[in-house]
Amino acid sequence: MDQAWVSDPDLIEQGRDLFRGSCRDCHGSRADQSALGQSRIVAELEAEEIVAALAEIRDYGDLSSMQNRIKSALSDDDIRALAAYIATLQDGPSQ
Ligand code: HEC
Repeated sequence: MDQAWVSDPDLIEQGRDLFRGSCRDCHGSRADQSALGQSRIVAELEAEEIVAALAEIRDYGDLSSMQNRIKSALSDDDIRALAAYIATLQDGPSQ
């Protein structure tokens, strides 16, 4: 599969803004925490796994939960942007 989108700088920037606005409170600023003690450590997942997990939650998640409602608003483009950004957290220096 063509994974050029993973290293697209514009997509990464878009993902960073989305992540800081909507995700880090639960998943940690480097996606390195288990959200609400329930999720896997997202920074340890492959970009493709993040895309698949987010699409699944978006399309099939129970909308009574806050995190699923946030994810239900993501477009395919948003999901790729988030996965591309999270991939940059995996090997960068901690901040
Ligand atoms: C209110 C807290 C909360 C927010 C905000 C939140 N999440 Fe989550 N997330 C969770 C919880 C809890 C789970 C585990 C339950 C589940 O998979 O539905 C989870 C699961 C996930 C998973 C799947 C990991 C696994 O365990 O399989 C990914 C990927 C993910 N979140 C990414 C994100 C992204 C990206 C955002 C921002 C758009 C976000 N989350 C916002 C709480 C949150």
